[in-house]
Amino acid sequence: MDNKPFDSINGDFRGKDIISLDQFAQKDIKILFSHVPKMREIALKAMPSKIIAGKIVVILFYEPSSRTFGSFSTAIKQIGGQTVEILNPQQFSSVVKGETFEDTIRVFEAYSDAIIIRHPETGSAQKAADIARFVPIINAGDGIGEHPTQALADLYSIKEKFKTLHNLHVVFFGELAHYRSVNSLAKLLAMFEGIRMSFISPAKVGLNPNIRQYLQNKKVKIRELHNLDEVIEDTDVLYVSRVKKEFMSEALYKKIQGKYFVDKNVLSKMKAKSIIMHPLPRVGEILPEVDNDPRAIYLRSQIRNGTYVRMALIALVLGGKI
Ligand code: ASP
Ligand code: CP
Repeated sequence: MDNKPFDSINGDFRGKDIISLDQFAQKDIKILFSHVPKMREIALKAMPSKIIAGKIVVILFYEPSSRTFGSFSTAIKQIGGQTVEILNPQQFSSVVKGETFEDTIRVFEAYSDAIIIRHPETGSAQKAADIARFVPIINAGDGIGEHPTQALADLYSIKEKFKTLHNLHVVFFGELAHYRSVNSLAKLLAMFEGIRMSFISPAKVGLNPNIRQYLQNKKVKIRELHNLDEVIEDTDVLYVSRVKKEFMSEALYKKIQGKYFVDKNVLSKMKAKSIIMHPLPRVGEILPEVDNDPRAIYLRSQIRNGTYVRMALIALVLGGKI
């Protein structure tokens, strides 16, 4: 392959890096989502399909993960590909011996058809994309930057429930300053007419200023508040977030952790036709007493859709015949 393309999706996913939601337009989301029901069917069948048979994907995760790792690994196998999984390369690869990020990427691209990367440094996926010359890079979370595949899957879950992506009120609740999936989902939602977004957070950990600017430029109606009660009765999607301990000082963590949560009292104020989401893991910000409410989708469809949407995305990026 010659130099790979690195740009907007513009209706064609083949060979492209997936770094940011900035690359997507509504038509790309429509194409991606159109393949998800078929992916679901494949996943529920006993035998995997052969959509990307013969392809090998490297999953290179410098940060811990349950869902993103688990669902990418599952997704690739469900559509007939194989994986090379390098978890914690800081401990289990030649990074230990001092190998540079650049060399690591160059080496793993030699073995694979795509690299899926998670890394604590913001901008690292873009950096990997600049280094890799032949294979696409998929961002599985870069520091406090973006988490595009989480947001695409979340958007799919919202659409599945409401049958539309227009005129919804989405409320982001919790620690927002370090939350890459909030950044990505807010960017995605901004594409749809009539969307309102409220950001409810403790002081000092409100919305990332770049995202605020992004939304303001797009003329999206946003509110930034500290008290969930001000919006809860008028909420369609309540998107809850964890305190990202790993990105802040111990002092700030102690100040925030345990100070906000969703319990039965919050539930009782929500509309019958609303949903509660969380990218997970949760660490006390949604109490288990909420889990069995039909509006709580975080341990149900939100998880499963993560796999189906990733199956569709990989199939498209690797040019598989769907
Ligand atoms: N799992 C998501 C992420 O990696 C959210 C979280 O960790 O709280 O960004
Ligand atoms: N939602 C999410 O990214 O979960 P993991 O950090 O467990 O991958």
